[in-house]
Amino acid sequence: MNTKEPIIRMENIVKVFPNVVANDGINFEIYPNEVHALLGENGAGKTTLMNILYGLYKPDSGNIYIYGKKVNIKNPLYAQKFGIGMVHQHFSLIPYFNVLENISIGLNELKINLNLEKVKKKLEEIMKKYGLLVDPEKRIEEMSVGEMQRVEILKLLFRGANVLILDEPTSALTPQEVDELFRSIRDLVKEGKSVVIITHKLYEVFQISDRITVLRKGKVTYKGLTSETTQEALVEAMIGKSVSFNDFSREQIKVEGSLRVEGLTLYGKGNVPIIKDVTFELKRGEILGIAAVAGNGEKELIDIIFGLIKQNSGKIILDGKEIQNKPVKNRIEMGLSFIPAERLTRGVAAGLALYYNSILHDHWSEPYIKHSIINEQEMRNFARKIIKSFEVVAKSEEVLAKQLSGGNLQKFIVGREMLRSSKYILAVNPTSGLDVSATQMVRQALVNMRNSGVGILLSSEDLDELVSVSDRIIVMYKGQIVGSFERHEFDKIKIGALMLGKNA
Ligand SMILES: Nc1ncnc2c1ncn2[C@@H]1O[C@H](COP(=O)(O)OP(=O)(O)O)[C@@H](O)[C@H]1O
Ligand SMILES: [Mg+2]
Repeated sequence: MNTKEPIIRMENIVKVFPNVVANDGINFEIYPNEVHALLGENGAGKTTLMNILYGLYKPDSGNIYIYGKKVNIKNPLYAQKFGIGMVHQHFSLIPYFNVLENISIGLNELKINLNLEKVKKKLEEIMKKYGLLVDPEKRIEEMSVGEMQRVEILKLLFRGANVLILDEPTSALTPQEVDELFRSIRDLVKEGKSVVIITHKLYEVFQISDRITVLRKGKVTYKGLTSETTQEALVEAMIGKSVSFNDFSREQIKVEGSLRVEGLTLYGKGNVPIIKDVTFELKRGEILGIAAVAGNGEKELIDIIFGLIKQNSGKIILDGKEIQNKPVKNRIEMGLSFIPAERLTRGVAAGLALYYNSILHDHWSEPYIKHSIINEQEMRNFARKIIKSFEVVAKSEEVLAKQLSGGNLQKFIVGREMLRSSKYILAVNPTSGLDVSATQMVRQALVNMRNSGVGILLSSEDLDELVSVSDRIIVMYKGQIVGSFERHEFDKIKIGALMLGKNA
């Protein structure tokens, strides 16, 4: 395979977003007849790189060559003309149209003029050739995720795609659907296509790919043939080797109280467990990290503890009292704080001024409300305190939440949840989207809260972060706790392997 010329060569691709260098000088090649896995943790830059190839983003610098010839892929239409197709994580099908209608949309832009009858005929040939079967008359809204995905792939093939890029194609599929998809991918390659599969799941890479490129923080950290690598090498490429944690000063403190969960279980669709018999205890004055690849139940676990979704069974015990059936408001009053992942929808009321947002979790209590009268001055004081302590760039406390940039909104929410008096903080990716100095500030603040006796449950996709601030780390995989590490036992390679469902 190495002797062949690549079909596509991306050279020194750089793409900078306001807060991050998403692609930092990437070289990436796609060869004929191969399944190429683009592997990396969340945020590594995989989707960005492929969006560039598909003409959705313009790189800040770098070149793309197709069969050695430099090309300018101005938009997806150009990409399609070059034989490149991409299926995104969020499908772009029209729900109330059927398959044929969806396939037909935009064909004339590509100067393919066919009536529905002809479209149907051609589609049936393609379906047969690649073993990708769907009912052409079926409406998208009546389809399973697996079927919709097949339609997306058929749509690309119909347009003559030679290279198919699939972005995290298995994330919403059942195991059976994954098997079917992988079978189709092999058929595609047998018929001369190349497939790029974006994934953060290591085991998939070994199941399906011929060649692997690993990205980490916008850079290529590994490339080679699947048959010539090992899981260990890939884990290291994905998450890095050095166990370098910049140590924050930690004080041993003793405060009574804990937040315990016992046997928490949550079922999803088709009675598939999302969380299965999860038990742990978070003490006050401790940071307990949850390490998990996104989608392994870590998000639901935190939502259940805060009271946003209801468990099927199990207990949550806050300072000796069972709270699993109590509403959110009670839990907050009993000392819970929450830094959610979805900042705009859950973390704030986007259309309200910051000073209103400063008391989002306290709006029923003193000092902000006394004898049913709102004390606006107290609200403003608190908002100003947050803005000052957490270096939020905002003209005043009167600015609307939605007017802040993502990073500043994040600092505001983190500040609010840390500065309001609480005993336990549930924090989900508290530094994602922040620049280096703000990240450091928030991590320091987490440790300071810990040192003052607050218990922090920290779910983070950033393993460096977990290792740097946590006292203990538990690892979740497929809804279960599969490992637990004390601070002196932290080992990113071992933790990373468990996150990926491997035995350490
Ligand atoms: N449109 C965008 N605007 C700003 N930042 C972005 C945008 N798209 C991606 N990013 C950032 O670029 C980095 C890489 O993102 P992405 O390519 O989606 O990673 P991956 O697909 O590997 O999870 C992340 O830090 C992400 O937050
Ligand atoms: Mg992505």
